[in-house]
Amino acid sequence: MNKKYILDLKVVAVEQLNEKNVLLKLSQDAPLPEMLPGQFVEVRVDGSTSTYLRRPISVNFVDKERNELWLMVATIGDGTRKLGQLKVGDTLNCVLPLGNTFTMPTSKEDNILLIGGGVGVAPLLYFGKQIKDFGANVTFLLGARTATDLLELEEFRKYGEVYCTTEDGSEGEKGFVTNHSVLQKGNFTQISTCGPKPMMVAVAKYAHAARIRCEASLENLMACGVGACLCCVEKTTEGNKCACTEGPVFDINRLLW
Ligand SMILES: Cc1cc2nc3c(=O)[nH]c(=O)nc-3n(C[C@H](O)[C@H](O)[C@H](O)COP(=O)(O)OP(=O)(O)OC[C@H]3O[C@@H](n4cnc5c(N)ncnc54)[C@H](O)[C@@H]3O)c2cc1C
Ligand code: FES
Repeated sequence: MNKKYILDLKVVAVEQLNEKNVLLKLSQDAPLPEMLPGQFVEVRVDGSTSTYLRRPISVNFVDKERNELWLMVATIGDGTRKLGQLKVGDTLNCVLPLGNTFTMPTSKEDNILLIGGGVGVAPLLYFGKQIKDFGANVTFLLGARTATDLLELEEFRKYGEVYCTTEDGSEGEKGFVTNHSVLQKGNFTQISTCGPKPMMVAVAKYAHAARIRCEASLENLMACGVGACLCCVEKTTEGNKCACTEGPVFDINRLLW
């Protein structure tokens, strides 16, 4: 098991990405611990009268030069709304790094497709950078309801081709990610996906049919984040597994979808 840290990180930047989503950039004086793509952080929500448990948030990006950890937060409930109110100079208590990681390519010939929906795009940015640094090819397919819900497009474009779908057709192809034409054109060797469960189930179905290796990052409800409370259990082909320690990334062949 990798060493875990409880750190008081300083908020060094807050970017409002759209009405609902905020990007928090965090740092500390000492170098940040090593974090790998797919891992997550359990953040303590201070100052909330209703949020007692830490909230799991994916590692969106690690900027090693600036010693920054980026977290993208969709403000959907009391806890995440409180996180969305953080200001530069505030402190955020984080337990990290948690969970397993996405599977890195083994060959520079590999052609990896990363499919994200909604705030599920968050962990794909850092993964995309690592794939590009390794020398393999990465393509992003990002889905949202409407154009303003597509997040960090300029960041994703630094690391690979970016294709989009929106349900209303306001950007990219109209419809769902699984209908995008790039799926017919690309010769992908692996798909990694994160987003709403119906989207990931549809991606898994496509990958099975196309015989492409595929893994999905689950966003099961979590509390402790370290395998103690069992609230994140996922039924798999090998029995019940904690998504926080055995996941969040699972090969779709292990999932009963
Ligand atoms: C491994 C992992 C990584 C995650 N990464 C991110 C991320 O990078 N950015 C981000 O914004 N969110 C992420 N989430 C989801 C985030 O943890 C939840 O949105 C958050 O815990 C909700 O807390 P809250 O207090 O705001 O909402 P609550 O008041 O607790 O709940 C508000 C509503 O959201 C629903 N909800 C709560 N948790 C989840 C969940 N995990 N998935 C779907 N619906 C939920 C509740 O059922 C309720 O309807 C991640 C979750 C997991 C498990
Ligand atoms: S969140 Fe407690 S066991 Fe996974």
